[in-house]
Amino acid sequence: PVPVILDCDPGHDDAFNILLAAAHPSVDLLAITTVAGNQSLEKTTLNARRVCEAAGIRGVPIAAGAAGPLHGKPRIAENIHGGSGLDGPNWESGPGAGFGHGEPTVPQDPRDALTLLRDTLTAHPAPVTLVPTGPLTNIATLLLAYPRLADRIERIVLMGGSAERGNTTPAAEFNILCDPEAADIVFGCGVPVTMFGLNATHQVRATPEVLSRLAALGTPLSRLCVELLTYFASTYREVYGFDTPPLHDPLTVAHLIDPSLVSLVRAAVRVELTGTWTRGATVVDLDGVTGLPPNAEVGMEVDADGFWDLIVEAVRVLGST
Ligand code: BDR
Ligand code: CA
Repeated sequence: PVPVILDCDPGHDDAFNILLAAAHPSVDLLAITTVAGNQSLEKTTLNARRVCEAAGIRGVPIAAGAAGPLHGKPRIAENIHGGSGLDGPNWESGPGAGFGHGEPTVPQDPRDALTLLRDTLTAHPAPVTLVPTGPLTNIATLLLAYPRLADRIERIVLMGGSAERGNTTPAAEFNILCDPEAADIVFGCGVPVTMFGLNATHQVRATPEVLSRLAALGTPLSRLCVELLTYFASTYREVYGFDTPPLHDPLTVAHLIDPSLVSLVRAAVRVELTGTWTRGATVVDLDGVTGLPPNAEVGMEVDADGFWDLIVEAVRVLGST
């Protein structure tokens, strides 16, 4: 299995990436680190614990990282993910108590994310794949604090940016816009980077058919998943006018499980840091017109049915443990 650390800001789609990474035998989920993004650091960290609790994921350390970007003020996506960062289910109480509701028994690791990342990369016998699906602050901080640990990173497979337009400004995608300087460090660090941006992730939509397949599993976890996706669908409808919501983040782990699901092209990718209207944009040189050498692989065409088969199977497998 591929040894993986998830660095995330759950977040509805981050939550499904945790499920996929924990469930699939070809992924060895070593650790989860959290970052402020979809909600505050406190909430995204609690949400990572809630997801693990609900899915019976135990023994994976969860540590909190950056509460805001390298420069400037934090930005959250409450309009998409709600006040908790994971709205939809009733997390506070209710009949599902003990299955994701109430205070999770899954603990928060006493170390901070930087220390957990360092310890895990140092201790693991083989280089580890980092999978960031939130703002890139933790990963940039790691590369700045421990540059020699870059050798212990096999590759960075991230959700962020776009080869087309943005979703938070006309040009910029949320994760990159939250911390453009961090993203610039990650894309320039020399470790192989694979980027799944909006041009790819908008191809995986949680359609009513997907929701029916999940509901048909008939487990408490599958019900929770349907509640999450139903909420996510409502905000995507309201904010963007999408009839079905795109489940961005799990394209990263899906790619690790089955590289044939998404086609990749090598391209030079630069992060816009100074544009008046374009700060946080990923400039993807698909036609090679800049003459810059490629520094990333960029996800393009997605086999959406194959992707959803993996998600449904993950929920099925976890629901029966
Ligand atoms: C990204 O932003 C977040 O809201 C999602 O979790 C995803 O990582 C999509 O732009
Ligand atoms: Ca995310």
